[in-house]
Amino acid sequence: MKETHYPVYLRAREYWNTRFNDFHMPLAYLHGCELLLAYPAADADIVIPAIFLHDVGWKLIPEEEQGRAYGPTMEDESLRRIEDESLRRQHEIDGARIANEILTDVNYDPRKREMIVRIIDGHDSRLESLSEEDSLVKDADKLWRFTLVGVDIHYREFGKPLKEYVPWLSNQIDRWFFTERGKQMAHEALAKVKHAVAEVGHV
Ligand SMILES: [Fe+2]
Ligand SMILES: [Fe+2]
Repeated sequence: MKETHYPVYLRAREYWNTRFNDFHMPLAYLHGCELLLAYPAADADIVIPAIFLHDVGWKLIPEEEQGRAYGPTMEDESLRRIEDESLRRQHEIDGARIANEILTDVNYDPRKREMIVRIIDGHDSRLESLSEEDSLVKDADKLWRFTLVGVDIHYREFGKPLKEYVPWLSNQIDRWFFTERGKQMAHEALAKVKHAVAEVGHV
């Protein structure tokens, strides 16, 4: 890890012990690093801290309420409820505020701090991307859902059978991802899941 990212990581991880962020963040970090290799013009000093900090706002939302704020129901406009949407928005608002505090505390470059905070404030609800860095953060955020651990957690949580959940997930790739490499990585990760399930799956 780059030396200048380390103090941000140390402060951000204090917020990761809720929801699935202890898995989600390391995977998002690895996926973010891989995306940066494909898009070297993107600024890693924005992308990596934004990944570390993007979901710190969940820590302020009680765990029993968190599940309402994402998942297939939230992805479907006809099923989405206003109170659930505002819960999702709340983790962005809290996250942007906490990120701003942390980045200020560690004396992060103020211009980059501002861009990171803007990315976090809207990372789920804003459907368009602000910049190449934003696109990479958005794609790194989504990719873990396509790994075995992400699929395993989510299909149970969303109460869908695996044989319905995996095709549903596959259908979201073009809609969710902003970069071609992100789409490719999502297809590759899901292909591994499908292969594992086809070989030894029980459903
Ligand atoms: Fe989020
Ligand atoms: Fe996330």
